[in-house]
Amino acid sequence: MSSADQPVRAATVATAARTTAKSVTAELNVDDGKEPESYDYGVVKGKPKDNLFVHGNYNRYYGYRLPGATNRDAVSGDKRGTEGEDEDEDPRIGLLEKGWFHKKRCLDVGCNEGVMTLGLVKKFKTETMMAIDLDESLVKRACVNLRKARSAAAAEHAASQQAQQHPKRRKLAKQTMKSLSQTWFVHGNVLASKVEPNSFDCITALSVTKWIHLHSGDGGIRYFFSKVRDLLAPGGKFICEPQEWRSYKSAVAKVKRGGAGAVADTSYFGRLHELTLRPEDFADVLANEFGLRLSRELRVAGGSEGKKKKRGFEDRTMYLFVKTR
Ligand SMILES: C[S@@+](CC[C@H](N)C(=O)[O-])C[C@H]1O[C@@H](n2cnc3c(N)ncnc32)[C@H](O)[C@@H]1O
Repeated sequence: MSSADQPVRAATVATAARTTAKSVTAELNVDDGKEPESYDYGVVKGKPKDNLFVHGNYNRYYGYRLPGATNRDAVSGDKRGTEGEDEDEDPRIGLLEKGWFHKKRCLDVGCNEGVMTLGLVKKFKTETMMAIDLDESLVKRACVNLRKARSAAAAEHAASQQAQQHPKRRKLAKQTMKSLSQTWFVHGNVLASKVEPNSFDCITALSVTKWIHLHSGDGGIRYFFSKVRDLLAPGGKFICEPQEWRSYKSAVAKVKRGGAGAVADTSYFGRLHELTLRPEDFADVLANEFGLRLSRELRVAGGSEGKKKKRGFEDRTMYLFVKTR
């Protein structure tokens, strides 16, 4: 069976990651930074209520952020092929280096519908890629996108054989197919996932920390960082794009406007003042408490001028950390 024909389906954390996790259906309020005992709430099933995407589980995230490209183009390569041009649709990918991902075991946390994940896989030819999101419908869409990307890669590979293209191009097409065949999308809450320690060489968490922090507090974000440390092999890379503190406030305001009282009550949306950690503290926390040393800041430059609302990925900063111990 060619990799393009392989069945793609959303897996549970337990099956895809060969874990022993309980059902990951829990909101995790882990204030003490220790592993929570129960996971009874916290993965999103069905449609988010009242279009309030309280986990950042936006259902048109890339159409909004990358208005120049439809999702279809970005993931399937239908119009652009599979070998490079489409990944530049997301300016963050241009700041990342091949050596961090190429032939590496990667984990993408909060993958949404998989557009960025698939961009990374195709551009850098990962060894394996596991991507996790707590919204079931987004994971299903990611699986559809993966299927399209596999078909496009298989077609590209076949074309490269027939046209007797340059050996390098043929090799790249083959590598893309292989990398996509070793990509999985998993439905679950990363805090509840149980994966063997040292399982990954590179972990990405882009625009996710705010949602973990708002739902699970300072303890929850610390617990997430401890998980990253445990899951990474020594020398492994952690690429984190934290949202700014002011965007916490807008998320809270939005939830309050939307009347999501239950969310406000059971999380830090209603108790923002109780959070003492700020996104700008994360680098120190990662270094001092978890042995993840800040190695580089990667800034997406440009964007809209003046006060015009920024919709794209401009003016964002990603941080590269390396596991030192
Ligand atoms: C704003 S989107 C970012 C998507 C993607 N990482 C990117 O930057 O292009 C945040 C995603 O994180 C997911 N998410 C939030 N908390 C999570 C958790 N605890 N475990 C897994 N996924 C989570 C949401 O469902 C949402 O799809």
